[in-house]
Amino acid sequence: MKTTISVIKADVGSLAGHHIVPAPLLEIAEDNLKKAAEEGVINSYKVFHAGDDLELLMVHNRGERSEEIHALAWKTFLAATEKAKELKLYGAGQDLLKTAFSGNVRGMGPGVAELEIEERGSDPIVVFAADKTSPGAFNYPLFRIFADPMNTAGLVIDAAMLDGFKFEVLDSKLNKRVVLQCPEEMYKLIGLIGTVNRYCVSRIWRVADNRVCAVTSTTKLSQLAGKYIGKDDPVAVVRAQHGLPAVGEILAPFLHTYFVEGWMRGSHWGPLMPVSLKDSRCTAFDGPPRMVALGIQVCNGRIASDKDGVPLIADLFDDPAFDFARREAVEMAIVFRRMGEFQPARLSEESMEYTTLPEILKTLKDRFKS
Ligand code: 13P
Ligand code: 13P
Ligand code: MG
Ligand code: MG
Repeated sequence: MKTTISVIKADVGSLAGHHIVPAPLLEIAEDNLKKAAEEGVINSYKVFHAGDDLELLMVHNRGERSEEIHALAWKTFLAATEKAKELKLYGAGQDLLKTAFSGNVRGMGPGVAELEIEERGSDPIVVFAADKTSPGAFNYPLFRIFADPMNTAGLVIDAAMLDGFKFEVLDSKLNKRVVLQCPEEMYKLIGLIGTVNRYCVSRIWRVADNRVCAVTSTTKLSQLAGKYIGKDDPVAVVRAQHGLPAVGEILAPFLHTYFVEGWMRGSHWGPLMPVSLKDSRCTAFDGPPRMVALGIQVCNGRIASDKDGVPLIADLFDDPAFDFARREAVEMAIVFRRMGEFQPARLSEESMEYTTLPEILKTLKDRFKS
């Protein structure tokens, strides 16, 4: 029997600008998923939020891209949107770009990361969810985790990893994918995924046996909508241990901050801050961009749970070990904000294409003289 871990997320409205998903919306999601679990559509779930993004973590046996699971997520987002409208929350229904559901939420606005696995003796999983950034934000840590022996000791120490990992990279401009194998093609891989606004790592397998190890959401809202309507705050699911990177190796890249696209109006480079669930809210200049990490154990098609069926969740960044990265992120945030709208604080011209900047150019069109 195979088990699927699905994380489907959307910003359907938030409290006080783009800050948090308030309790009434989380309750609606909780009610919907509880009912779906009782009806046997899913086996276990966890509702949480990454800043203003409502995150549905669902574990089931229906495989990736299941119509039932996607319909459940879509219905849940619609119900939460209704509540958001009633409360006049900010950006009610922000990420729901289409009205008619046709079997799959891909291309409709929500972000999706799904991993169907053959359960091992023990299957530790890390679920990452970020706010105020974009799918390219996972390129750097995923490279460190699965390709850099200076980060992941297991690449050298554990014989099961010696053949390396394969990275599927999406060219979000051409909507084409290429698979590169590490360590052999490492330099080519870095060549591509260093360009975080265009290429993103979408899936990773272990070379030795093609075991799938990681998946990310790669939705680009601006490319769906043709204009800026909110950032593509991404999620990722990563498998750990026993011939794969250890949980500690998966978290090690976050000991330091690094820069990601997003932050205010999705238009700035911002230092990523790893945070606990309680700090999963963007404040200063709508940031800094934040990432939460949930640790779960998959157990016979479910999330390992307590006697009342409540899933056991490890809030992985709720740890003083990440205080230094958080401090660094604040310091870098201050440095970049001092620069205002001057590059490199602001994104490149190409990335600003989907904002209102082209309208400024339009107003000046006839005033440019040669
Ligand atoms: P244990 O020996 O505690 O299982 O740890 C192994 C490991 O993977 C540490 O990162
Ligand atoms: P979100 O994409 O998180 O909704 O943020 C949008 C924004 O413009 C923040 O300044
Ligand atoms: Mg928002
Ligand atoms: Mg968001």
